[in-house]
Amino acid sequence: EKSGYEHFMLKEINEQPATIYDCLRGRLDAVKGTITMKGIEDNIEALVAAPRYIIIACGTSWHAGLVAEYIIEELCRTPVEVEYASEFRYRNPIIHKGDVIIAISQSGETADTLVAIEKAKEKGAFIFGIVNVVGSSIARASHAGAYTHAGMEIGVASTKAFTAQLTVLLMIALKIAKSKGTIDEKRFSHLMTELEEVPEKVESILKNSQELNTIAVKYKNAVNALYLGRGYNFPIALEGALKLKEISYIHAEGYPAAEMKHGPIALVDKDLPVVFVATKDEYHAKIVSNIQEIKARKGKVIAIITEGDEAIAGMADDVFAVPPADEIVAPLLSVIPLQLLSYYIGVAKGCDVDKPRNLAKSVTVE
Ligand code: G6P
Repeated sequence: EKSGYEHFMLKEINEQPATIYDCLRGRLDAVKGTITMKGIEDNIEALVAAPRYIIIACGTSWHAGLVAEYIIEELCRTPVEVEYASEFRYRNPIIHKGDVIIAISQSGETADTLVAIEKAKEKGAFIFGIVNVVGSSIARASHAGAYTHAGMEIGVASTKAFTAQLTVLLMIALKIAKSKGTIDEKRFSHLMTELEEVPEKVESILKNSQELNTIAVKYKNAVNALYLGRGYNFPIALEGALKLKEISYIHAEGYPAAEMKHGPIALVDKDLPVVFVATKDEYHAKIVSNIQEIKARKGKVIAIITEGDEAIAGMADDVFAVPPADEIVAPLLSVIPLQLLSYYIGVAKGCDVDKPRNLAKSVTVE
């Protein structure tokens, strides 16, 4: 049921404070400093000792895996590879003894991910599944796992399942880092508190949704769009571009902001909207100079910024501010305005946002 919302996608975007909370509930206790996850606890030795994690997924779930690569490498100091399941399954991938495969899937039924799991199993890998649909094929094929508890997702373009995947991946990274001793007590408890505050911050972003509707109306006739971000926000730029393509049929590409000079900058003119995922982090000064390069070429800049960031607000054509957060947690906030921007552009163009043409919610065939 749409609970009064015009579309399932809008309903699901608005459910995120609750779904992220549900994902954390019963697991994370910031006061006690504990994260309870049976799938991790039962296999902690293998997870801590793993020489490498290989994340396999498709679509939006693959983007969650890319964010996790940055987070796990930073917090756990274990190398991570992120692979499209469709590529992994047809290669002859090298899997070393002890490597852990993390398979991410909303539906738990994606054919490519399922076959990739079977291939990895044949090579003796341990499979940890991060799945939304309880009892699904991928959940059953995994040796252990964690559910994302986002509830049923009906909109074809994934929204609440993505933020639930990020939440679970963050908890897993924190839990492994703690066991491995690669995070100090102060950083651990700071990140625990930051995670606990996410639902409230998402709520405050959603209150300002109409600002994104206004921006959407301005850019709805764009033919192309570029999404740029750095570090933890680079995969969010990819996800933002994917959402826009899926929902509005506008051609959009995501790039690491520094890569723009190696190609995409050739596209910049007065008609190209460039969306910067530019929340405050250690790369802030760099992204400010990337924005200046776009403005110098008359591109239109839409920036997702941290509240109070006057520097970017003074430069960009349009901004949307999110509450301050640690850079590791920031993707959970910066993706929300990008989901809404795509939604409002899709609606303004009269697209079927819940069921975009040619797409399926669950791709159970090759
Ligand atoms: C389809 C859906 C996407 C989803 C992808 C992977 O393409 O339209 O929203 O991200 O499959 O699906 P999964 O269920 O494995 O996460």
